[in-house]
Amino acid sequence: MATRPAAQGILADDKNEAREKIIKLLEKSYWMEIETVMSYITNSINPDGVRAQLIIASLREDIQEELSHAQLFAKRIKELYGVVPGSMEFKAEQTYLQPPEQQTDIVHVIKGVIEAETGAIEHYNAVIDATEDDPVTQDMVVAILNDEEGHRRLFEGYLREYEVEGLA
Ligand SMILES: [Fe+2]
Ligand SMILES: [Fe+2]
Repeated sequence: MATRPAAQGILADDKNEAREKIIKLLEKSYWMEIETVMSYITNSINPDGVRAQLIIASLREDIQEELSHAQLFAKRIKELYGVVPGSMEFKAEQTYLQPPEQQTDIVHVIKGVIEAETGAIEHYNAVIDATEDDPVTQDMVVAILNDEEGHRRLFEGYLREYEVEGLA
């Protein structure tokens, strides 16, 4: 017996075009998470200094969360009948999270993390706006957005300390 496509929802036959658009947004999200994992690995190992240790521990935790975000985006791409892109399609964008000149420059790292989280927050808000027809993707991205807001807030707090001391 032949199977039939879903008659309702984002998996329906007549939602081909809508799915394609969502998959494009999810691919961008996937790459953003992958690059964030790379950047957080480097910045959780390079920094030197007493205060750097807290940033290192914090980024180490985030790496696992960002990795799980990447996996969630990949899984959703497949569920929408897309194909998770291969590594050759990757293009780096996070200029602001490259290693600083001095590995004691923690403010550089904190500001870079805030920039990455802000970029994620902006993109995921756009994905949420574009997924009115796909509540499952929307729900998933709402939860991920909450994680990124938490990350951003945490690093804003770290930066505040340096600002108060006139170091940022
Ligand atoms: Fe993330
Ligand atoms: Fe994050």
